[in-house]
Amino acid sequence: MTATSNREGATGIFGPTRARIAERTLRTDNWWLSPLTTGLILLFFIAYATVRIFMNRWYWAPEYHYLTPIYSPCVSASCEPGSSHFGTFLPEMPVFIPISLITFVVLAGFRGTCYYYRKAGWRSLYLAPAACAVPEPHKKYTGESKLPLTGLNLHRYFFYGAVLFGLINIYDAVRSFHGVDGQAFGFGLGTVIIWINVVCLWLYTLSCHACRHVVGGRLKHFSKHPLRYRYWTFVSKLNTRHGQFAMISLFTVIATDAYIMALSAGWFGDLRFVN
Ligand code: FES
Repeated sequence: MTATSNREGATGIFGPTRARIAERTLRTDNWWLSPLTTGLILLFFIAYATVRIFMNRWYWAPEYHYLTPIYSPCVSASCEPGSSHFGTFLPEMPVFIPISLITFVVLAGFRGTCYYYRKAGWRSLYLAPAACAVPEPHKKYTGESKLPLTGLNLHRYFFYGAVLFGLINIYDAVRSFHGVDGQAFGFGLGTVIIWINVVCLWLYTLSCHACRHVVGGRLKHFSKHPLRYRYWTFVSKLNTRHGQFAMISLFTVIATDAYIMALSAGWFGDLRFVN
């Protein structure tokens, strides 16, 4: 079937209103590069996170008090001694259940329903469409109007969970100022990496569209709410870079987790700056 053939009920290049041209797209630039790169990054992160979550080990470096964000908070009786900063109110887990299950559900839910990742996923993984003025291979476009895709509207609630976990990450980062050899204070490269990750995670969280709505939405007159207007202005500025923060924070999470995994597994020691 050529691009100019029509299918019953079809849309896009197969629809009845499309101009009768043979080419699937008239774009001559490397439009495929961006969705391909984004798709590879997303697939890598999904694979990495899945492997790490089911490992159930190498998430806590006790001598430095470093806890990877992927396992924070660690609240199961299966957690390694010292890694549970908020108690162990969950029982021991069978080996095939991730002890970071709660963290996984909240953070995967937050990222999975994020407007930016949705756009990236639709374009790079589902090619719907892969780029502007590039037709998608699917016959019909139904948007996100049916179950289970309507569940993506839960994003605003995952946002509150992400804020809570962001605060926990700050607590973990403060705990990372821990000295070795019995000293109360110290810090090393791991502390720096952990803090960079916390900053990037907060930039990502605060630049969220739901956050923008929380601080400044449903107002008729900004002039009557100067404080909320100030917050809204701040979040709006961050929001213009939300996609960048989304991608950067993916890499900082992986880098932080990989570094702490290496320390925990004993592959090398932390580079210490103070004690
Ligand atoms: Fe991306 Fe909310 S829109 S985190």
